[in-house]
Formats: sequence, structure tokens, C-alpha cells
Amino acid sequence: MTDGRFCIAIDGPAAAGKGTISRAVAARFGFAHLDTGLLYRAVGMKGGDPIAAARGLCEADLARDDLRSLGAGEAASRVAVIPEVRAALLAFQRDFAARDGGAVLDGRDIGTVICPDADVKLFVTASAEVRAARRFAEIGEGTLAEVLEQVRARDARDMGRADAPLKPADDAVMLDTSDLSIDAAVAQACALIAATLGDQRPR
Ligand code: C5P
Repeated sequence: MTDGRFCIAIDGPAAAGKGTISRAVAARFGFAHLDTGLLYRAVGMKGGDPIAAARGLCEADLARDDLRSLGAGEAASRVAVIPEVRAALLAFQRDFAARDGGAVLDGRDIGTVICPDADVKLFVTASAEVRAARRFAEIGEGTLAEVLEQVRARDARDMGRADAPLKPADDAVMLDTSDLSIDAAVAQACALIAATLGDQRPR
């Protein structure tokens, strides 16, 4: 950490474990955490013109209790293909990343577009089947087959869009969580970050 700023970018597809890892990393190192998917979910759920929704996004929009639903994820990935929506959300994310004391941002384009100079970049993946099973257990909505179909559709849309597609940054460290427990995945992420930080603090 140089001037009190330390930025960690954690990207990956839906339900790969990046949210859990990001929260654990933020708690472990005392950094602030931003789940950037929530911004797109809030825009998608606001209805009306998505560009106007993104430009006018406020705290109350982020506090809705339906943002974690399958429908919100689907709505998010539809508005996330619109370049003006992405542009409207850029400054907020960059300001968050530059805060004193360190920041962890998770999403799809953090290491490639939002924070290309992040101190640590992680790309968290898992097979589509493993991710669907996790998402299904977490939300208990629909059937496993429907969730798998949505995971695949969301992957295709996120990876195939022209603006800021989901892909690992060239300098990202890959972390495949298909066969890892949450604790093991968190431990690997923390070890990498601690090594980069030259962390001397007690665990
Ligand atoms: O991470 P989460 O599942 O909440 O993201 C929902 C959707 O928002 C993603 O499928 C993606 O289309 C979009 N998103 C994005 N860029 C981000 C975060 C999320 O395009 N940084």
C-alpha cells in the first residue's frame, strides 16, 4: 500500500463465488467493498429508460430488497449491454476504488475497464453446473434446470457484449472454485493479497 490506497479487482461470471470472496477479503484487510452488480441490478429494476435510470441512480435504489432475485440479475445483464448505462456508472465506481484505506470491487469489468491499474486482480470462475447449483441453493427460485439455463444465457450475454465484455484482464490471477470450499477459496485469495501487500499484520 503506498498512499493508503489499495485496490483489489475481483471479476468473474455469475455465482462463481466472487461476492463471498470479496466480502471476506474486505473484512480480513479492513477494506471497503462495492458489489458493482448491485448498480446494474438497481438500474434494471428501476424500469423506464435505463440510461436515465443509471444517470439518476441514488441510495434508495440500491436499498431495494428484490435486487438479489433471478429477475433482477436478468434485468441487470440486459441493461449492462448499453454503453451509456456503463458510462453513467463509471465515475461512481472509480471514486469508490480510489478511496483512502483500500477498496475491493467485484464485477465483470473491474480489472479490465474500471480499475486497470488495480494492485491485485482476481478472476474467479467455476463450471456453469457448479454455479447453477450454488445459485439454486441460495435463492430457491425456479428449478435447477431453469437456473442453469439462466446462468448460461447470462454468461453468453456478459461475454458477448461489445462494451466491456466479461473476460480476465491479462494480468489477472485465475481462481477456479469448482472444487474448492468457500474457506479454501477465501484462503487462496487472502494469501495472494497478503503477499502483494507485504502484509505484516497478525492473522
Ligand atoms: O454480479 P451480478 O450477478 O450481481 O451482476 C448482474 C449483472 O450485472 C451481470 O450479469 C452483468 O451483466 C452486469 N454487471 C456488469 N458489470 C459489472 C457488474 C455486473 O456488466 N461490473
